[in-house]
Amino acid sequence: MGIIDEIKQRVDIVEVVGQYVSLAKGGRTLRGLCPFHSEKYPSFFVYPEQQSWHCFGACNTGGDVFSFVMKKEGIDFGESLRLLAERTGVVIPSRSEPEASKDQREALYRANLAAAEYYHSLLLNSPAGERAKSYISRRGLSLKTVTEFQLGYSPGSWDGLKQHLLERGFEESGLLTAGLIIQSETGGTHDRFRQRLMFPIKDIRGHIIGFGARVLDDSLPKYINSPQTLVFDKSSSLYGISLAAPAIRQRNAVVLVEGYMDVITAHQNDCRNVVAPMGTSVTEQQVRALKKLSPNMVLALDADAAGEEATLRAVGYENILEAEVRVIILPAGKDPDDVIREDVTMWRRLEEEAVPIMDYIFNRTIVGLDLTTARDKSLAVNKLLPVIGQMQDRVRRAHYLQKLSAMVRVSEGDLETTMAKLKPGREARSGRMTREPVPEAAPVPRQSSPDEEYCLALLLQHPELRERAGGLAPEYFDTSENREVFVACQRSGDVPTLKAGLDSYICERIDSLVTANLPAGRVEEKFADFVLRLRKKFLQNLMTKIAEAQRLEGRAGGDIAELARLQEQAKEVSRQLGEVFPQKDGKSKSGR
Ligand code: UTP
Ligand code: MN
Repeated sequence: MGIIDEIKQRVDIVEVVGQYVSLAKGGRTLRGLCPFHSEKYPSFFVYPEQQSWHCFGACNTGGDVFSFVMKKEGIDFGESLRLLAERTGVVIPSRSEPEASKDQREALYRANLAAAEYYHSLLLNSPAGERAKSYISRRGLSLKTVTEFQLGYSPGSWDGLKQHLLERGFEESGLLTAGLIIQSETGGTHDRFRQRLMFPIKDIRGHIIGFGARVLDDSLPKYINSPQTLVFDKSSSLYGISLAAPAIRQRNAVVLVEGYMDVITAHQNDCRNVVAPMGTSVTEQQVRALKKLSPNMVLALDADAAGEEATLRAVGYENILEAEVRVIILPAGKDPDDVIREDVTMWRRLEEEAVPIMDYIFNRTIVGLDLTTARDKSLAVNKLLPVIGQMQDRVRRAHYLQKLSAMVRVSEGDLETTMAKLKPGREARSGRMTREPVPEAAPVPRQSSPDEEYCLALLLQHPELRERAGGLAPEYFDTSENREVFVACQRSGDVPTLKAGLDSYICERIDSLVTANLPAGRVEEKFADFVLRLRKKFLQNLMTKIAEAQRLEGRAGGDIAELARLQEQAKEVSRQLGEVFPQKDGKSKSGR
């Protein structure tokens, strides 16, 4: 099974969409307010059985789980694949990359390095950098630290960096790709970062992959970051990793803090095994990367965030690391940056006294509960048992089961019986703690249809057909990967040109379609026939969806306007279906 299908099998569209949209269930369908346009009355539907979604409102479009995430997060197919892979624990195998993309990477590193040097020298040597310099010294950073982290200052002019780099032979397009400059509304380009303290972000080998940039006052946004590029992916990068790696190995532990300044202050005070994620919570990819250096992880959590982070992710991390995750609970309202600057020995002590995360979860759960009462016992068990159930390490699992049993005075045997009844759901893999009721019918992943593939293979192998593809629309293809291939086919050019810039999984798909064995002859006729079949399938499918939406709407009490709109859409679709059928019957049957 390929990665795409594996992810589809593991992911439930209801769960994914549910993270963005509050969905109400009605029979086999769910509905909510469309996340893509603003509306007061919900016209957005999710169809668990088909693992698809459709908005009957202003968008009037739909798709599968990938297209939902692409649209919602504003990312491309490959990025949505990686995001969902991460959420479902599918490991995407790394592959040796083609030469072209290696060259592209090198070019990005070069542009970023040149930018970092420019910003750094402006900070140290220019009058414009004075303000940033005094900000830095107010925050207690030494010159050595500024040099070590290659901190910089981006000037207020709109094209300081751009001009500097153009003069050094960089091309505008390359700077755009690197995210160092951006397109302005007037059509030109200008520097992305202005009047900010610049933090170059490096990968473990020390290549500069992007930047974080902080304002020098209290204005917002406090930080902006480089956009996603071929070399920069926020969810897999760790700030400080190139400097911290030796210490992480040597001390056999890594400490995760929240922000840039926390990392820098820690390093300045000789706590060198410290890194930070890029403003998001720690991701599975980051944990996997850290595991290669040391399995022991300490999370420095602020008192509020602690509960959530701990309960949502800890067990997942522990399973990956095959080791215990411990937590430092910071004094209320303080960052590691504050704590370390005030008293570095206090920080060292906090690190030494870090508690195993499960102990922390236990403590947090029972605060305010009276474990002599049946009600509170049951609350504690309901909360803790699923977390214990997810632990893969048997010894540790037994340990916490024992602990829970002693705490609530319920036998381990009884707890185990209850635990066995908690069916392992998708949540177990992501280490999540909450359990939704199991859906009545297991979702069937959408397999790519042979008709769709045949059509795409024809289009790829017979470029002359592309002009005749006007009768097709991307929506006629059920799966996002086929849609991507179709959209690529709409460009002109040979196959390598079509593939330029596409995700490698889409390229692979194109390659296999290009080499698919198609019977020769009557190509145009066959193509026309398949276009019709896809259109028919699309319309019939849409009709079913409308019918289900109408049923749900009716049951929900039925907003007149909404029902009327669905009615209207049903009429239109059935008119189009009427067009498709006679045409089809009039044609000769053409096999493959
Ligand atoms: P914080 O708001 O805690 O900032 O965000 P900080 O690191 O303590 O910075 P100082 O001490 O005020 O200078 C923590 C991290 O979240 C990300 C950054 O990575 C930051 O270091 N972040 C925060 C953003 O990406 N954007 C923001 O607007 C704010
Ligand atoms: Mn801070």
